[in-house]
Amino acid sequence: MSNILLTGIATLDIINQVDHYPPEDSEIRALNQIIRCGGNACNSAIILQQLGITPYLLTNRADDSNADQIFSELAQHSINTTLCPIQKNSSTPTSYITSNTKNGSRSIIHYRNLNELNSAHFKKINLSTYDWLHFEARNCQQLEIMLQYAKTFNKPISIEVEKNREFIELITPFADVLLLSRPFAQSRGFDNALTCIKHFSSLYKDKIITCTWGSQGAWLYANSEIQHQLAFEIDKSVETLGAGDTFNAGFISSLINNLSPPSALQFACQLAANKCLQSGFDNIIIPA
Ligand code: FRU
Repeated sequence: MSNILLTGIATLDIINQVDHYPPEDSEIRALNQIIRCGGNACNSAIILQQLGITPYLLTNRADDSNADQIFSELAQHSINTTLCPIQKNSSTPTSYITSNTKNGSRSIIHYRNLNELNSAHFKKINLSTYDWLHFEARNCQQLEIMLQYAKTFNKPISIEVEKNREFIELITPFADVLLLSRPFAQSRGFDNALTCIKHFSSLYKDKIITCTWGSQGAWLYANSEIQHQLAFEIDKSVETLGAGDTFNAGFISSLINNLSPPSALQFACQLAANKCLQSGFDNIIIPA
C-alpha cells in the first residue's frame, strides 16, 4: 500500500447549515450544526485514506481541547499524526462556516492563532519512507527550506496553491505537480482557468499542472498538452466545502496508482462531484 506525507493545517470546522445565505446585520436559525475536523490537508487525507493510500499528516497542533477533538477524529480515520509538534499556549485554528443547503455554497470566516510549521522540525524527518510528499502553499519562506530538503529524497512532490501568498514563486519550482485553484488564479488577474494554466505551463513545461474552476470543471497541463474536463453534473449540490481538497486527493491518488494525467483529471472531477452530493467526507462514492 502506498503512503503519503501531507503538510498543512488542521482546523476545527463549525458548520452551520442554513436554507439561505443571511443578509448582513440579520439573524437566522441554522437548520443544523456540524463540528468536525477540517483544513485542506486533513480533508485530502481523509479522502486519500478511503482511496487506499496511507496518509501521514504533519501540522502544528495546539494544546487545547479542540485539538484533542480533531486529532481523535483524525485517528478514527486512520490518519497518522505522530509527527505533529504540539505548540504550547496556543489555540486550534477555527473556521466558522455558513453552508447553504439550497446550492451547497460555503462562506468561511477563518481564525488562527497558531504558528505555521517550521523548517527546523521538518528537517528532522526521514522522508525516505514516504512514496509521495504533498504541501499546502503557506508560509512560503519556511516552506522553501522544507522543499529544498524534501527534494534531496527524490520523491514526487505536489504543492497545492489555493491562495495568493507572499513568496509563492519561491516554492512553485519545487513541485512535480502543481494544484492551482480559482481564488489563486483570480488573485493573479486570470479570469479563467485556461489563461492561468497557459501562463504557468509556459513557466514550467515539465510539470503537471491543474486548475479547478468550480462548476466549469478543471483544466490540466501535462506532457505539453492542455485538457479540460467538464464538471460532472449532479442533481443537487449539498455541500461544496472541501470539494477542491477532494479533487486534489483524487488527482494525487490516481497518479500514485500510475494512471495517466488525463485519467487522473477525470477521476478527480468525478470524485469532487460526488463530494458535493454529501455533507462531509465519510463514505464518499468512489468512481468505478
Ligand atoms: C475547506 C477547508 C475547511 C477549512 C478551510 C481552511 O477547503 O479546508 O475545512 O476550514 O478550508 O481554509
